[in-house]
Amino acid sequence: MAETRPEPTGTAGPNRLMRVLDRVVGGVEWLHRNSRRDAGPARAVDHDLPLVISEIRAEADGVRSLRLSRPGGGPLPAWQPGAHLDVLLPSGRTRQYSLCGPPGERRHYRIAVRRLAEGAGGSREIHDELCEGDRIVARGPRNAFPFVRGRSYLFVAGGIGITPILPMVRAARTRGADWRLVYTGRSRASMPFLGEIGDLPAERVWIRPDTEFGVPAAGGELLAHAPPGAAVYACGPVPMITSLRLDLPGSTARGLHWERFSAPPIIDGRAFSVELARSGRTVEVPADRTALDAIGEVMPEVAYSCRQGFCGTCHVPLLSGQVRRRGRARGDDVALCVDRGRGPIAVDL
Ligand code: FES
Repeated sequence: MAETRPEPTGTAGPNRLMRVLDRVVGGVEWLHRNSRRDAGPARAVDHDLPLVISEIRAEADGVRSLRLSRPGGGPLPAWQPGAHLDVLLPSGRTRQYSLCGPPGERRHYRIAVRRLAEGAGGSREIHDELCEGDRIVARGPRNAFPFVRGRSYLFVAGGIGITPILPMVRAARTRGADWRLVYTGRSRASMPFLGEIGDLPAERVWIRPDTEFGVPAAGGELLAHAPPGAAVYACGPVPMITSLRLDLPGSTARGLHWERFSAPPIIDGRAFSVELARSGRTVEVPADRTALDAIGEVMPEVAYSCRQGFCGTCHVPLLSGQVRRRGRARGDDVALCVDRGRGPIAVDL
């Protein structure tokens, strides 16, 4: 997802770094957003899609894949590389997972989930409670990470970030593009789909587990594999994406498109309060937390999914006050997961 811009004040070291970073890659960020606009925005698909879990496979330590089919068989809605499903779990939680099967596959969808012991519970529910034959409901597919047609690509995946990247690699291969894949992770045992990746042309793939190199890869090290003029598509943890952004101007690549699988950091946050109009309660949001987190403490049922400002699940109408926008909420809506009040705000919640 497009990373948020830092707010304009603050002197702490990391904040200064992010401001420098923002200046260094400002043009790249524009290219990223412009490319996305060319490909069209993600569109919500609001109808429920009942699915049955037809197969569960262990793909790596703590990672399982789910094959999802229509309960009665039949084709599923079409999708493009980069697309994801909103999965509505039996507990009521909603989580988003990239489609990682072959592009164009309509009989089954495949998603992969890493179990996060300290997470909010969605991945534990999938790992610990769901079995083959169980039914779930999904919405989508929709695409917030569109894959734009080009001649050359560098794909960079970190761990479970391989999921949106795999269909892109296959599509690039089918189109006859010049491509390279760099796949990083803590160890080979933790990296899903290494078997499938082993079937790709070895001269185009670099597997780089931290355990075999001692340290995580720097952005420049990853970008050194880019064909000249390549578009870079990356999905992985925040430090990997940040390092790529920082080192991109010194590389031969021409643009960076990225998706993270964690919430963006809060840069130079300021405290504010949110009045929840329906209950009359007021919640104080500290400088280092999101409104969604603060509201979640008094209202655990508050809905969310991506925590990055793009899926729309946490958007609520803004009744008063002004917000510093970080997500894709439009009009009078506010994205509780990323937007921040410029002062006290009130929302219809
Ligand atoms: S949780 Fe997705 S936009 Fe806030």
